[in-house]
Amino acid sequence: MPIETTALTSHIGARLTGIEACRPLTAAEVEAIDEGMNRHAVLVLPGQDITDEQQLAFTRNFGPLEEGANSTVRNSELRLDAAFADVSNLDKEGRKLARNNKRRMASLGNRLWHSDASFRVVPAKYSILSGRIVTTAGGNTEFADMRAAYDALDAATKAEVEDLICEHSLIYSRGQLGFTDFLPDERVAMKPVRHRLVRTHPGSGRKSLFLSAHIGTIVGWPQPEAMAFIRDLIEHATQPPFVYSHRWTQHDLVMWDNRATMHRVRRFDDLNIVRDMRRTTTRSDGPTAAQEAA
Ligand code: OGA
Ligand code: MN
Repeated sequence: MPIETTALTSHIGARLTGIEACRPLTAAEVEAIDEGMNRHAVLVLPGQDITDEQQLAFTRNFGPLEEGANSTVRNSELRLDAAFADVSNLDKEGRKLARNNKRRMASLGNRLWHSDASFRVVPAKYSILSGRIVTTAGGNTEFADMRAAYDALDAATKAEVEDLICEHSLIYSRGQLGFTDFLPDERVAMKPVRHRLVRTHPGSGRKSLFLSAHIGTIVGWPQPEAMAFIRDLIEHATQPPFVYSHRWTQHDLVMWDNRATMHRVRRFDDLNIVRDMRRTTTRSDGPTAAQEAA
């Protein structure tokens, strides 16, 4: 089957066909996917009815797994293998999460524009999300192109952001929603990490804005001034021309490059409708900035 990619917008996203994610990939197939990701930053592979094991094997083609995405959930409570980020609204018994469930509260953070695991020293590279049970009323996933957003900045702003370092933490993203109910050891685990605001993508050579809801300040700036600026940049970067909105069909496998995009999920009736989405993730090559001395 020939591999074909069809662009979905003028900046971001393509539909890729001709690969079966349930089978071992050839080196040429892995290369074709990497090339598609370098160019489009988001790939939609329709019709991929895969098991968890197949999804893990597919993901390992693209780098070391990013694990621990469920770090605020005890292992005994996990519905899926710990290598998965469970972004469903289901508990271990397959019941919909109750309104005040802690995992539900935390997952509401996915409604804010973010880049996965930007709160880690080594943040995520690719995220791979499998739509096992999808919703049609709400629940779209939107992706914004941080390369196009960078390119569209004026020269003075490009110069200003070039060497800025931001601090990222889950405390900041959850705090934006008023979720501040953390245990002491969770606070330690959520210590802010530092990242460059401008990254150069190794695969495409393009610069991008490394924005995320996890950002809580810019190093050396007063926090309110930093956050007002970050809000402006996020507003700029998520204008409709830079965004692809994905409406899910069952068995879509959607991959995105967290080094070049932000994403968010749109609201849906999660107390009444089942949405079973399972994410695997690979890690970036290394830190983007030196960390604060301990
Ligand atoms: C994620 C995420 C969005 C969605 O898996 O990282 O943000 O549509 N999910 O569930
Ligand atoms: Mn996410």
